[in-house]
Amino acid sequence: MWWGQFSFTGTWIHPEAAAVVGALDLGGASTQITFHPGQTIEDNNTEVLFWLYGTNYSLYTHSYLCYGENQALKKLIASLREENLTSQQISHPCYPRGYEENVTAAALYDSPCVPAPAAHDPRQILTVRGTGAPAECRNAVQKLFNFTACGANRTCGFNGVYQPPEHGHFFAFSGFYSVFHFLNLTSEHPLSDVSATIEHFCAKDWKEVQMVDPGVNKTRLQDYCAASTYILTLLLQGYKFDNQTWSNIHFHWQVAAVDVGWSLGYMLNLTNTIPLEAPNRVKGQRPDLWAAAVVTTCLMLAMILWTGLALCYKWPLATYETML
Ligand SMILES: *[C@@H]1O[C@H](CO)[C@@H](O)[C@H](O)[C@H]1NC(C)=O
Ligand SMILES: *[C@@H]1O[C@H](CO)[C@@H](O)[C@H](O)[C@H]1NC(C)=O
Ligand SMILES: *[C@@H]1O[C@H](CO)[C@@H](O)[C@H](O)[C@H]1NC(C)=O
Ligand SMILES: *[C@@H]1O[C@H](CO)[C@@H](O)[C@H](O)[C@H]1NC(C)=O
Ligand SMILES: *[C@@H]1O[C@H](CO)[C@@H](O)[C@H](O)[C@H]1NC(C)=O
Ligand SMILES: *[C@@H]1O[C@H](CO)[C@@H](O)[C@H](O)[C@H]1NC(C)=O
Ligand SMILES: *[C@@H]1O[C@H](CO)[C@@H](O)[C@H](O)[C@H]1NC(C)=O
Ligand SMILES: *[C@@H]1O[C@H](CO)[C@@H](O)[C@H](O)[C@H]1NC(C)=O
Ligand SMILES: *[C@@H]1O[C@H](CO)[C@@H](O)[C@H](O)[C@H]1NC(C)=O
Ligand SMILES: *[C@@H]1O[C@H](CO)[C@@H](O)[C@H](O)[C@H]1NC(C)=O
Repeated sequence: MWWGQFSFTGTWIHPEAAAVVGALDLGGASTQITFHPGQTIEDNNTEVLFWLYGTNYSLYTHSYLCYGENQALKKLIASLREENLTSQQISHPCYPRGYEENVTAAALYDSPCVPAPAAHDPRQILTVRGTGAPAECRNAVQKLFNFTACGANRTCGFNGVYQPPEHGHFFAFSGFYSVFHFLNLTSEHPLSDVSATIEHFCAKDWKEVQMVDPGVNKTRLQDYCAASTYILTLLLQGYKFDNQTWSNIHFHWQVAAVDVGWSLGYMLNLTNTIPLEAPNRVKGQRPDLWAAAVVTTCLMLAMILWTGLALCYKWPLATYETML
């Protein structure tokens, strides 16, 4: 129906380059950054070309394997253990004081992201004890990254990976959202508040941590300090957000089976408000929202679900068909 009314020329849906929204995703095993740099991408391996409604978009994308939340937190414990490999005790500055857990070496070194030391007994039981020390926690988390590999190179993320300068707004999903949601930080807070909240939370002891709102999901409460410190380090020193660009990050509910639901809902709402008779006004009204819906829907589908670009064409149209 929609096809019959408008030619597929791209004249009416043409998000401004500046309005294309980037995506930050934090999974269990890896983290991805995707955005439209608005300049030449020097490393072809990180470039994805999108042809959407008659406009070419050149997007930068990189996936850091082993930098997802679960693997990063395991690497952190393994790294803390390296201070004394002969000891069966591990002091964890990001775990709350008074918290203790036992893990087997086999469970700690069960993935390629966490290489086991040369001689180790997989049956050994390691006792991890929280010390609740925010500054030490930050130091320990920084050791998970190699920031020196980039030298003074400004077009660089971390571990020597090419990254053009950040551009435009970003939606932060999945792990970014759930951790910040727990800390009540998802509505736009200045960076100084975010740092202060995390610092404050990380200094709590285990009894206080357990007293958070009973409504929240209490699985792995002990991890929120480490996870939020990790996220802040990743966003600031890793992806190079700063005091100024921090406000360009918007935390949104995730993107998976449900998360597509979010995109779809967003999309349905937006498309529903588009007046069919006046296509040219659409662009003038809310180009940013429209671009966000189209591009993030495509990014979710193409990159996170790996279903291929073909869906990007179908998705908005299918949405339309259900509406009309
Ligand atoms: C990257 O793109 C440039 C120009 O398009 C081309 O000359 C070069 O061979 C490409 N490099 C790789 C590794 O594909
Ligand atoms: C988009 O890029 C493709 C190749 O990458 C090219 O064939 C096509 O002409 C470009 N379209 C526009 C509108 O620039
Ligand atoms: C490592 O731990 C063992 C056993 O707890 C202890 O005897 C040793 O002194 C520790 N070494 C260092 C350098 O802390
Ligand atoms: C961990 O194991 C030690 C003995 O190896 C035991 O004394 C301690 O209670 C255990 N801690 C927890 C939290 O299970
Ligand atoms: C960081 O990367 C550089 C360059 O690849 C390397 O020389 C250095 O050893 C790395 N540092 C650490 C701590 O891994
Ligand atoms: C910066 O890093 C990129 C990719 O790693 C590289 O292509 C470029 O030559 C580097 N620039 C400088 C000035 O070192
Ligand atoms: C988030 O806010 C709720 C309601 O105000 C509160 O109960 C909860 O403790 C807060 N969470 C944290 C981690 O401070
Ligand atoms: C809490 O979260 C975990 C994983 O994040 C999930 O497996 C579990 O079902 C959740 N529990 C509740 C009560 O929502
Ligand atoms: C942001 O600015 C505040 C004061 O304006 C400063 O204290 C803080 O260190 C800055 N943070 C970063 C990450 O640049
Ligand atoms: C739909 O979008 C409009 C305008 O963007 C907004 O005011 C409204 O709250 C949205 N409705 C829902 C259910 O999200």
